[in-house]
Amino acid sequence: MSQLFDLTGRRALVTGSSRGIGRELAAALADAGATVILHGRDAQRLAATVEEFTARYGHERIHSACFDVTDESAVAEAVSRIETEIGPIRILVNNAGIQHRVPLLDLEAADWQRVIDTNLTSAFLVGREVARGMVERGTGKIINICSVQTDLARPTISAYTAAKGGLRNLTRAMTAEWAASGLQINGIAPGYIHTEMTQNLVDDQQFNSWILGRTPAARWGTVADLAGPAVWLASDGSDYVNGQTIFIDGGMSVVV
Ligand SMILES: NC(=O)c1ccc[n+]([C@@H]2O[C@H](COP(=O)([O-])OP(=O)(O)OC[C@H]3O[C@@H](n4cnc5c(N)ncnc54)[C@H](O)[C@@H]3O)[C@@H](O)[C@H]2O)c1
Repeated sequence: MSQLFDLTGRRALVTGSSRGIGRELAAALADAGATVILHGRDAQRLAATVEEFTARYGHERIHSACFDVTDESAVAEAVSRIETEIGPIRILVNNAGIQHRVPLLDLEAADWQRVIDTNLTSAFLVGREVARGMVERGTGKIINICSVQTDLARPTISAYTAAKGGLRNLTRAMTAEWAASGLQINGIAPGYIHTEMTQNLVDDQQFNSWILGRTPAARWGTVADLAGPAVWLASDGSDYVNGQTIFIDGGMSVVV
């Protein structure tokens, strides 16, 4: 049974994995045996994470790539370098993302675009580049990190909500075109997870008590809560799961 979830010998690129959710997903895949390519934009922070992962998993299994996921040519160059120097990517986790909180009437077009580019266009750019090799090889797993905002809106995060909703449909579009070539593309939609991105919300007493009351599980999610579903979607255990978005939200999206 455990062989179903064994990722030994599989190479995984996790975008935005120098911290937060991405870092924990990268560790979960490495714990399941994968060779991991850590990724970030901040070279210094990335190097610190690489050092820590290398101490845990050994040199051979930990690599890194530093590039902006919204920059088309940087993405193409980086994916090509990874595949030439390290080897074919078997698992891609499109995790890099940003938030920007401002009422819709005050939202600047440039900020709208930045949020869409980082949360949605990036998954297209990195996904397309990586899928070229996966389609040729006839195998691959892509996991797009969505959000409860894939399904639910909330004031002040309109661009993020639009991007994450789009990401679910991009997951379906990728499935429509690549599933027949042996790829499985799915989404993970975390609820409210305590990370650096949400620290300010955890510290906000009013917001924090709203979360606790609004979540059937009555707690914030932890990055560890995402590990099992990520390993499952990266493994042979999900070979006939196609185009789904799995909500990991303590029940928030199914209870009013
Ligand atoms: N924290 C939550 O509660 C929560 C809930 C649902 C979904 N998510 C999603 O999970 C993902 C990770 O969130 P997090 O909370 O760990 O955030 P985080 O800010 O801690 O990490 C985001 C990562 O993305 C990277 N990144 C951002 N823009 C980039 C760019 N242009 N190029 C390269 N890298 C870039 C950052 O460097 C960082 O490493 C995001 O897609 C986010 O939308 C988070």
